[in-house]
Amino acid sequence: MAVHSLRHYALNVPDLDEGMKFYTEFGLQARKTNGQIYLRCKGRETDQVILCQGPGKSLNHVAFGADADEIDAIRQRLAGSQGSLAEAPEGFSTEGLWLRDPCNALLHVQAYVKETPLPAEPIFDINSPGHLPRQDKRAMLPRKDCPPIRPRRLGHVLLFTPDVLQRRQFFADVLGFRISDYSEDILAFMHLPGGSEHHVIAFAKSEKAGFHHGSFQVGSPDEVGQGGDYMEENGYGKGWGFGRHTVGSNFFWYVRDPWNSYAEYYSDIDYIADSDQWEVANYSPKDGFYNWGPPPPDDFVKNYEE
Ligand SMILES: [Fe+2]
Repeated sequence: MAVHSLRHYALNVPDLDEGMKFYTEFGLQARKTNGQIYLRCKGRETDQVILCQGPGKSLNHVAFGADADEIDAIRQRLAGSQGSLAEAPEGFSTEGLWLRDPCNALLHVQAYVKETPLPAEPIFDINSPGHLPRQDKRAMLPRKDCPPIRPRRLGHVLLFTPDVLQRRQFFADVLGFRISDYSEDILAFMHLPGGSEHHVIAFAKSEKAGFHHGSFQVGSPDEVGQGGDYMEENGYGKGWGFGRHTVGSNFFWYVRDPWNSYAEYYSDIDYIADSDQWEVANYSPKDGFYNWGPPPPDDFVKNYEE
């Protein structure tokens, strides 16, 4: 048994308006209530990012959804783990289960109906040797006619952690995640049983805990590039893209946020329908990082949190 979905991540940030501007430009819809910023992908029923006022940028919490009867099971498994029960932070519901993982990061598990699948969009056709699925039809619109990029859903979150193996074990034992792939004790990528994208939560080794990036699915590889281009042209440079990961296979563009963490556009990530059929691999750190693309910024895995 396991949690069934990633719901949102909440960050403490020093400037709420700056945060709202960043995520709105990135393509999310924002509303400001009770001194917090709530951001969601167009068409979704819940929020994917929440920004709270803080002295500096740090992770406030990550929230997961689970079936109601799973909450007690998680509470029991927590009792025998290196995590602990916690109180709801100010401004958040006390419903469900608040806990701290072995890195002292706050997690929230709430009874929640599994999110509805995204509506089907036109298939991304590629003409390739021996295959001509797109005929008598242009692939590209002129730049001026391309609509702004609107992420469809939050796919995964990557957290910094001093002990990747310990945290990976906790997420498996207590929350029910399964390992997908990893790089030694440096990176770990985990999915949810019963049909899941390649990673829903991931960990990268750092001297301390923290938030590295949240990743949002867009409609195609073109939208990854168009979104990244747009952000760069609008003052959000020093990101990383366009490229493709080996682990997870997704096309990516990481846009640097105002606090030196990232929001990622992704497309075409691997999907694990049956965990038992998936062969877990241990990649070299370079392959764990990316297959092709420009070199990452020098500080890409620097943890800027206080
Ligand atoms: Fe990612």
